[in-house]
Amino acid sequence: MLKVGLLGAGRIAGVHATAISSHPGSALVAVSDFIPENAEKLATQYGCAARTTDDIIADESINAVLIATSTDTHSDLIEAATAAGKAVLCEKPVDLSLERAQACLGSVSRTGKPVMIGFNRRFDPNFSALRTALEAGEIGRAELLSITSFDPAPPPISYIKVSGGLFRDMMIHDFDMANFLMGGAPEAISAFGSSIVDPQIGAAGDVDTAVVTLTYGDGRIAVIKNSRRAVYGYDQRVEILGSEGLLQAQNMLENTVVKSTAAGVSSAKPTYFFLERYMPSYVTEWAAFVTAVETGAPLPVTLEDGVLALAMAEAATRSVAQCRPVKLSEVLE
Ligand SMILES: NC(=O)c1ccc[n+]([C@@H]2O[C@H](COP(=O)([O-])OP(=O)(O)OC[C@H]3O[C@@H](n4cnc5c(N)ncnc54)[C@H](O)[C@@H]3O)[C@@H](O)[C@H]2O)c1
Repeated sequence: MLKVGLLGAGRIAGVHATAISSHPGSALVAVSDFIPENAEKLATQYGCAARTTDDIIADESINAVLIATSTDTHSDLIEAATAAGKAVLCEKPVDLSLERAQACLGSVSRTGKPVMIGFNRRFDPNFSALRTALEAGEIGRAELLSITSFDPAPPPISYIKVSGGLFRDMMIHDFDMANFLMGGAPEAISAFGSSIVDPQIGAAGDVDTAVVTLTYGDGRIAVIKNSRRAVYGYDQRVEILGSEGLLQAQNMLENTVVKSTAAGVSSAKPTYFFLERYMPSYVTEWAAFVTAVETGAPLPVTLEDGVLALAMAEAATRSVAQCRPVKLSEVLE
C-alpha cells in the first residue's frame, strides 16, 4: 500500500484526493497547504491529517507525494521530496523557468527516484484510443496533426499574472499531446498570439488566443489552436491525417440527445470544463503512477517530458515576441 502525502489543497488537489483515496493500492495519509484552513478542510473531507509540507516530506513512512501546489513551487518541492526518498507525481508545468526545470531534472536524476508529470490528457480514453489506432498503423503514416483546445472562459487576471502565460500554463498540455501523438519533439515552432478576448490579459503581458505550428524534421506538421473563451463550453478535439486515413477525437457532450426538427439539427454543449471533461483521466493517471512505482515499470510520463513541453512553451513565447519561427535547439542550448 502506497502511503501518500498531498501537497496543496486547492482546485486540482481535490480531484487528486479523490483519485488517491479511491485506488485500492494507495492511501491518502496527509495533506498540506500554505493556507492551513485549506489543508484542514480537505483533510476532514478525506479523513486524513492536515500537516505542513516540510512535515510530510520529512515523514519516512510516507512513500509518495502528489504535488498540486502553485506552479512556482514545483521544482523546489520535487527536489525536496525526491531527496527525501519519495516517489513524486507533480502537476504541470514543472516550473515557470526552463532553466530551473532543467536544474531540477539534474538533481532528480542523481536521486534515481521516480517523478511523473501530470499530463493527464494522455490518459483520456478518447485520446489514448486515438494513439493506439495510430500506433497500430490504422491510418498509415501520420502527416498532419490538429489540436483544438479552447477554455469556456478566461480565468481571473490575478491568475493570469502568476500563470507564466498561455503557452506555459495552458498550451503546455497540447505541446505534450503533440509529443505523445507524433512520437517526439518538433524541430521548430512558429507562434502567433493576440489578446482579443480580454485586453486586460494583453495589458498583463499575456495572450488569450494563439495558433502554433510545429514542424518536424521529416516534413510532418502539427497545428495547435488555443483560446481562453469558447462560449459553448470546453472544446477539446484532436484530428490526425495520415497517409491512409483520418482519426478524430471529438468533444464529450453533456448528453447524447440530438434534436432534429424543421428548424435544424442540434445537440447538447460540450461538458463545461476540465473537471467535468477529464475526471476519468485523473483517475487513470493516478493508477498508472501507482503501478509504475509498485512494479518499477517505466513511468508513462516522465520529468523529461515535462521539461520538453516547457521548452516548447519557451520557444512559442519567443516566437511571438520576435515574430519568427524558433528552433527548439535554440531554447535547449
Ligand atoms: N492537469 C490539470 O488539468 C490541471 C488543472 C488545474 C491546475 N493544474 C496545475 O495544478 C497546480 C495548482 O493549480 P490549482 O488550480 O489547484 O491552484 P490553486 O491556487 O487552487 O491551489 C494551489 C494551492 O497550493 C497552495 N500552496 C502554494 N504553495 C504551497 C506550498 N509550498 N505547500 C503547500 N501548499 C502550497 C496554495 O495555498 C493553494 O491552496 C498548478 O500548477 C496548475 O498549473 C493542473
